[in-house]
Amino acid sequence: MTANWTPDSWRNFPVMQMPDYPDAEKLKATEGRLAGFPPLVFAGEARKLKRKLARVAEGKGFLLQGGDCAESFAEHSADNIRDFFRVFLQMAVVLTFAGRQPVVKVGRIAGQFAKPRSSPTETIGGVEYPIYRGDIVNDSEATIAGRLPDPERQIMAYRQSAATLNLLRAFAQGGYANLEHVHQWTLGFLKDSPASEQYSAMSDRIGEALSFMRACGITAETAPQLRSTDFFTSHEALLLGYEQALTRVDSTSGDYYATSGHMLWIGDRTRQPDHAHVEFARGVKNPIGLKCGPSLKPDELIKLIDLLNPENEPGRLTLIARFGADKVDKHLPDLIRAVKREGRVVVWSCDPMHGNTVKSTTGYKTRPFDSILKEVRGFMAIHQAEGTHAGGIHVEMTGKDVTECTGGLRALRDEDLNDRYHTFCDPRLNAAQALELSFLVAEELKKEQALNPKKWDEDEAFEAAE
Ligand code: PEP
Ligand code: CO
Repeated sequence: MTANWTPDSWRNFPVMQMPDYPDAEKLKATEGRLAGFPPLVFAGEARKLKRKLARVAEGKGFLLQGGDCAESFAEHSADNIRDFFRVFLQMAVVLTFAGRQPVVKVGRIAGQFAKPRSSPTETIGGVEYPIYRGDIVNDSEATIAGRLPDPERQIMAYRQSAATLNLLRAFAQGGYANLEHVHQWTLGFLKDSPASEQYSAMSDRIGEALSFMRACGITAETAPQLRSTDFFTSHEALLLGYEQALTRVDSTSGDYYATSGHMLWIGDRTRQPDHAHVEFARGVKNPIGLKCGPSLKPDELIKLIDLLNPENEPGRLTLIARFGADKVDKHLPDLIRAVKREGRVVVWSCDPMHGNTVKSTTGYKTRPFDSILKEVRGFMAIHQAEGTHAGGIHVEMTGKDVTECTGGLRALRDEDLNDRYHTFCDPRLNAAQALELSFLVAEELKKEQALNPKKWDEDEAFEAAE
C-alpha cells in the first residue's frame, strides 16, 4: 500500500480548479451516497489495461485515446455513443494495420465531465457569471442559478456514465465490433469523400488481408478477436470528491482503485507535485496519464514520475505531450532525454489538440487540422530521432459531422464553423477528420516500422490479442 496515502489524503493539500460548492452539507451527503453506489469499472479491468499499456511502453503497441472534450447531459443518446464508437474502431483498424501492432483503445468517455478552466468567471452582457466547469459541476447556460455548483449533478454524471458504459460494453463484446463491418464502414467513408488514392490503397490492402484470412477459415465465427474488442474508459480526475467516493479497495489485491473509469489522467493545470491532484492519483493503482505542457521542466517531470510511479511499473504512467505544433520541437526532446537518462518506463502519447487552439476570424474557438497534423508529425519525428517509441495519440473527436476544427479533406473554413458548432467545451475533430488523422498517423507508423521492424513471436501475438 502506498505510504501515508488514503483516499481522502488529498484534502490536506492545496487544490486548484475545484468548484466552490455553496452548500457544504449537501456536498458531503452526495459524496456519501456515491460512496455506496456500485463501482463503474473493476480493478481486474484496470489491471488488464495496465498490462496492455506495459507492452506499448516496450514499443509493442499503440495507444488510441479519444472522445469528447466534455460529455454533456443534453447529448446523451445511443446514436452519439454508437457514432463515436464506430469511428473510433475505424481509426483503430487503420492504425493496427499500418503499425502492425496492437492498438489499445481508450475512450474519453463514460466519465469525462469535469473541466479545468483558465478563468473562474466570465462576463456576458455586462454580467459576471461563475465559469462553466462541466455538466458534473454546473450548467453551461449562463444564468446565475445554473452556474452555481450543484452536487446532485455528480449523481447524474455517475448514472450517465453507467448507462454509457453499459452500451459500450455491449458494442465491444457483441457483433458491433466485428472487423469485417468496421472495414465496410471505412470503405463507405472513402467512397463519399475526396480521400486520396493513398488511403484507398491502404484500405484495399486491409480488405485483401481479411479475404485471405476468410479463405483460411479465420472468420468472426471462428476467431473471437475478429468479432469483439477490448475497450477501456478514461477521464480527467479533476473533481476529487467524486473520485474519492468511487475509490474502493480491490478484494483480490487489497489495493485501492478508482472505479470511476479504467484510466485517469492529471490535467496540465493541476499537475503541481505538492498539490491535491497528484496526491490523489499517486495512491490509486489504475493506469495514470499525465498531461505535459510547455511549462513542464525535465526535473519537475522526474519528480512527478517519482511520485506517481515510484516502482517504475510498466503501463502505470502515460505521458501525454501537448505542446502545440510550433513548440513541440523546443520542449519534447529534453523531456524524452530526462526520462531515458533516469531509466523510467513510460508510454509517450501525443495530444495534438490542446496546444493548437486558436480564435477563428469568425470568432469561434477552433483548431486548424494542419496544426494538429504538424504536431503529430513533429512528435513522431522526435521519437524517431531519440530512438524512443511514439506510443499513442490522444484526441478530442466525435462521431458526428460537426464543424469545429478547420481544414481536413473537406477543407472546412472559418466561415463554415457556424454550421454545426456543437461542442460544450473545446473544438473536436469530426468523424471524417478523425479518420483522416488516423490514415496520416498510419503513414508515419509505417515509416517507424520500416526503420525498426519488430519481430513478433507467436506468444506475443497471442498475448496481444487476449
Ligand atoms: C483536456 O484534455 O480536455 C484538457 C483540459 O487538457 P489539458 O489539461 O492538457 O489542457
Ligand atoms: Co479539451
